[in-house]
Amino acid sequence: MKELEDVYPLPGMLTFGEVECLYRLGQINHCNGVIVEIGSWKGRSTVALASGASRVHDAKVYAIDPHKPLPVEGYTEDTEAAFMANIKRTGVADRVVPMIMTSEQAARGWNQPVRLLWIDGDHRYESVKLDFTLWEPHVVVGGIIAMHDTIRKKGPKRVLWENVFLSGRFQGIAIVDNITAVRKVEKRSLTGKLRDYLTLALRGVYIAARKSRVPYSKSVGRSLLKILTHQSWMPVILLVFTASIAR
Ligand SMILES: C[S@@+](CC[C@H](N)C(=O)[O-])C[C@H]1O[C@@H](n2cnc3c(N)ncnc32)[C@H](O)[C@@H]1O
Repeated sequence: MKELEDVYPLPGMLTFGEVECLYRLGQINHCNGVIVEIGSWKGRSTVALASGASRVHDAKVYAIDPHKPLPVEGYTEDTEAAFMANIKRTGVADRVVPMIMTSEQAARGWNQPVRLLWIDGDHRYESVKLDFTLWEPHVVVGGIIAMHDTIRKKGPKRVLWENVFLSGRFQGIAIVDNITAVRKVEKRSLTGKLRDYLTLALRGVYIAARKSRVPYSKSVGRSLLKILTHQSWMPVILLVFTASIAR
């Protein structure tokens, strides 16, 4: 895919599997609304989402980031110029609405439905919690929330457990490296619940295996994940996951 080859060389923290995941998520077109990104940095994820979206629908990507240094989180430079140059250079500038402000400022007066919410801003617990609680209500039923650093960072991991896994309002968990994506539902189905319990169990095994450095079976993971694939967008995402753990 030419677009992915263009996106990956951009500066950023996402793995190739994660870039591909966002590119696929950007294409989701089973519900209405725009795409909202919290945390763009120099635009690697923005370009992945916008490139995917451009292939399928007209929805814009609202890219929220103050682009100011935030030393406590390790961001020491102003990234606005690099971000603007990267979206222009990759040909997605007309797809992207840059919002040079915090997610809290952007949420004031926001009134558009959101089909896909991508959270990758300040990773401290209180900030992720704020991002989630301000923006989740705008996500339409059937829409998707994807969060980064859900395996290695405490803030996103805790919000994921408290606000997603324990809430009963999301199902169809998909994991690609450090991204976890879920679908918002009116009510979880029994099969959906069972599938998610299995995915979570697999996630636990995966995390434990990574921590302990015990070799874990990629072929078992691959087969299990194939069994779990039922929803239209899931096979693609899970294939990306299996491909990435197979690296
Ligand atoms: C991990 S980086 C994002 C990486 C980016 N998604 C990529 O693909 O390269 C986190 C970004 O979140 C931004 N950020 C920090 N606090 C924020 C807030 N309250 N609202 C929006 N963005 C924020 C930072 O400026 C930084 O650029």
